[in-house]
Amino acid sequence: MLPCCNPTITNIEDLRRLAQRRVPRMFYDYADSGSWTEHTYRSNTSAFQDIQLRQRVAVDMTNRSTATTMVGLPVRMPVALAPTGLTGMQHADGEILAARAAEKFGVPFCLSTMSICSIEDVASYTQKPFWFQLYMMKDRDFMSRLIQRAKAAQCSALVLTLDLQILGQRHKDLKNGLSAPPKLTVRNILNMATKPRWCLGMAKTQRREFRNIVGHVTGVENMSSLSSWTADQFDPSLNWDDVQWVKDQWGGKLIIKGILDADDAVLAANSGADALIVSNHGGRQLDGAAPAIEILPEIVSAVGDRIEVWMDSGIRSGQDVLKAWALGAKGTMIGRAFLYGLGAMGEAGVTKALEIIHKELDVTMALCGYRDIQQVNHNILRHPPQMKRP
Ligand SMILES: Cc1cc2nc3c(=O)[nH]c(=O)nc-3n(C[C@H](O)[C@H](O)[C@H](O)COP(=O)(O)O)c2cc1C
Repeated sequence: MLPCCNPTITNIEDLRRLAQRRVPRMFYDYADSGSWTEHTYRSNTSAFQDIQLRQRVAVDMTNRSTATTMVGLPVRMPVALAPTGLTGMQHADGEILAARAAEKFGVPFCLSTMSICSIEDVASYTQKPFWFQLYMMKDRDFMSRLIQRAKAAQCSALVLTLDLQILGQRHKDLKNGLSAPPKLTVRNILNMATKPRWCLGMAKTQRREFRNIVGHVTGVENMSSLSSWTADQFDPSLNWDDVQWVKDQWGGKLIIKGILDADDAVLAANSGADALIVSNHGGRQLDGAAPAIEILPEIVSAVGDRIEVWMDSGIRSGQDVLKAWALGAKGTMIGRAFLYGLGAMGEAGVTKALEIIHKELDVTMALCGYRDIQQVNHNILRHPPQMKRP
């Protein structure tokens, strides 16, 4: 195959392979890794594969719909692009490209605090409101200003992440010396020289640092090491009173991300948030934690009648989205599935990832005998768990 030709892409794994070829090792590894032994990272995907669907036949499958709402907002399918740090290092201007692909496709895009393109950058290149994800930092003044900036950009929901106040170790990031912009060591230069598209894109953009932060926090002119900066700035004393503080500052739709235990789900519901996301951060934090899809039914049973329950971690296909829905998730988020698309082919790659997942979801739903996702429930599973449905 010629290096300039895009191969035929039929699934997310194809996008992953292409991204691995096109993105410098430091940033590809940052996406495709989990913490410590990566056991939770791997089991997130294998747990989905262990769930079996019931095939039904001779059922009218015309006029299908995967449309629904997430926190009241209409979506073409119950999938949003998860907040991911350094997305603008997978591909130049990555956050802008991903937000545009999501907007055109009809699903929400969520911008990370640790993005390369700023809130204002993304707002100026999109028409519809996007979501903003907040990490709680010690500097409350900066937090307050960041929330105001998200409001000024008309973000339609705030996603507050609770599972990363201290960083789970990812060996590859330490070995690669992950930083933005990347340090120009001999090893990095040699590796980047093999990724001409990426280099060309980066040469053409000014967006190469954490633009939500650099220049907005006194004393932060650059961030050489992500892990040491995070260790320094993120607030390990974060608690449910702080969640209330954020809720009051924000005043709009609030989504709590990173819940993996029914007791915490009750606290999240008590906080008055609009949705919670069952998530183990894509296997990047507590290695040894259960796959998110396994915990989902417990949490739906505990609080599904009080708060919208979503899930992420391990979704690589439309079949996975359908399984999560069948287990009670009213929405899902995808992280790596869209990042691989972005690294592989920029905006077109994110669109491709969304098209792949949508088609898989739609056809699989039909093969299970359903035309409308609203009618789908745990009856499509061969071994539905005992669960109380909201
Ligand atoms: C490269 C990468 C960076 C991430 N950065 C953030 C982040 O900045 N904020 C956040 O809340 N979650 C972050 N996450 C977690 C995602 O939002 C999401 O929970 C996870 O990717 C879901 O798992 P999946 O990648 O298997 O779909 C990140 C995930 C990845 C892969």
